[in-house]
Amino acid sequence: MRSDFPLHPGNPEAFPTVREFLAASGYSEEFLRSHFRIPSIHFLLYPYGLQAEYLNKKYEEGDSLPLFLTRLFIAGRTFERAILEEKLTPNVVSAMEQLGLLVPGDTSGLRCPATLYPALGVFVASDRGFRPEGPGYRGKDYVMSGTEHICRQFIAHISQAPCETFLDMGTGSGLAALLATKFSKQVWAVDITPRAVAYAGFNRLLNGAQNLTVLEGDLFAPVQGLSFDRISCNPPFEPPLKDGMIFSVGGEDGEAIIKRLITEIPPYLKPGGRLYCQVCGTDREGESFDERILSWLGEARSDLDAILFVRLILTPNEYAIQQMLGENQDSWKLQEWNMFYHKLKATQVVVGHLILQKRSSVRPTFAARRNFGPDTTQREIEWLLEWETQCAEPGFAERLLESRPKPGLGWELHVRHGLQDGKLVPLSYTFFTKYPFETNLHVAAWMAMLVSRCDGKATAADHYQFFASRMPLPKEEYLRALGALIGADFLRIDGSEPPASPEAAA
Ligand SMILES: C[S@@+](CC[C@H](N)C(=O)[O-])C[C@H]1O[C@@H](n2cnc3c(N)ncnc32)[C@H](O)[C@@H]1O
Repeated sequence: MRSDFPLHPGNPEAFPTVREFLAASGYSEEFLRSHFRIPSIHFLLYPYGLQAEYLNKKYEEGDSLPLFLTRLFIAGRTFERAILEEKLTPNVVSAMEQLGLLVPGDTSGLRCPATLYPALGVFVASDRGFRPEGPGYRGKDYVMSGTEHICRQFIAHISQAPCETFLDMGTGSGLAALLATKFSKQVWAVDITPRAVAYAGFNRLLNGAQNLTVLEGDLFAPVQGLSFDRISCNPPFEPPLKDGMIFSVGGEDGEAIIKRLITEIPPYLKPGGRLYCQVCGTDREGESFDERILSWLGEARSDLDAILFVRLILTPNEYAIQQMLGENQDSWKLQEWNMFYHKLKATQVVVGHLILQKRSSVRPTFAARRNFGPDTTQREIEWLLEWETQCAEPGFAERLLESRPKPGLGWELHVRHGLQDGKLVPLSYTFFTKYPFETNLHVAAWMAMLVSRCDGKATAADHYQFFASRMPLPKEEYLRALGALIGADFLRIDGSEPPASPEAAA
């Protein structure tokens, strides 16, 4: 462990005392959100966030225990021992001292050298964000809190279905791994920096997560020979023009660590196993981000399904400006950013989630790219994966032909007309929906007609007969089209309906 790691996990008998105290203290994410009227506790943890304004206020005796703990653990305030012992009890203060959670402050009294906060039902310690006038940490191996918006999005899209083995790659403070201990029998967490490993190990003991193993190393090196039902990863993916932090910069083009992860992952997924990865990369002239991801898989492509769920698309210039503003970079740097993207021939920056799935039977694999809609959540993602997997399974064509499709909900058909030989004629047909995914599906005229004929009574085989007797239509093309219409909820069949949209549920 690095000598500058501020906590002391070497006194394991002190953890239960602190854990029980915190659990009963009322210091919860809900408390923080409602007391400070903030949508996310990151507003408190972010070094330039609300903490200075709200939390450096003078201590008042009437302060509730959760508010007192917020000042102690988030604002980093120093308190006299007598006040601490009165609020926390001498026993708890002593346990916290043993763990390094309380150390001598800059004046007399005690303070917490890291941050310690409630997150998603567990307690997490991580580095205090750096401010020039404050005591935060500014090393390249800074360990982020996991409360950042993008980290929460990453966590929200990991399946929580029960499983045997789970790996959180690039675990940082270990939040995703700690959450996984609740639905996975055995969890591993890996990080390349000793500091992250030390925090994740501390948090493991703090939360009493006995089924979690924390290992240090470069990507899969520490887990060679093991394989997993689920792997999660929120990798560094920023271009090297950013702060140079280990948690954020993803190699020379920002995609280098994602590329290594994808290239190396195949043996580490069990059959049916999935990777849930937060990604950011670029669509480039002649090659989209998802196409590049498939090329990284190489021969393993025949074993792995891949779906890229796109949450946000920005022009390279917009993305650069956003990142520069976030870091307070000088405006002259914009030219460097633009040059960087120009060299990559980047046309847009894509932020989203990648899911890879190792097939569990002999079948063709599938690849897709979908756009988030306003109501897309993890439920819709899981539904699409199930649907695409069914479509690829042997025997599914017969089931599909026997089904009785009916229209899905909430879509529109946009028909573009134009003049041809002096007559107004339909030129193109586009189905549009925002749920379960935002989809613009350009279709042939016969597909638009197919949807209008689907009444839930005739079978898909009947519809095929209708079209095949009037035009050349290979059955495979018909089935592919039907699958695409169902996968976007333009059509539905019994047993494959997407989750109810919030609108439909209301
Ligand atoms: C964006 S942070 C995510 C941290 C945490 N998973 C979260 O969501 O809050 C990326 C993490 O990956 C780690 N990392 C970077 N390169 C790595 C590598 N080659 N092998 C393992 N971990 C790595 C960093 O140290 C950092 O903790």
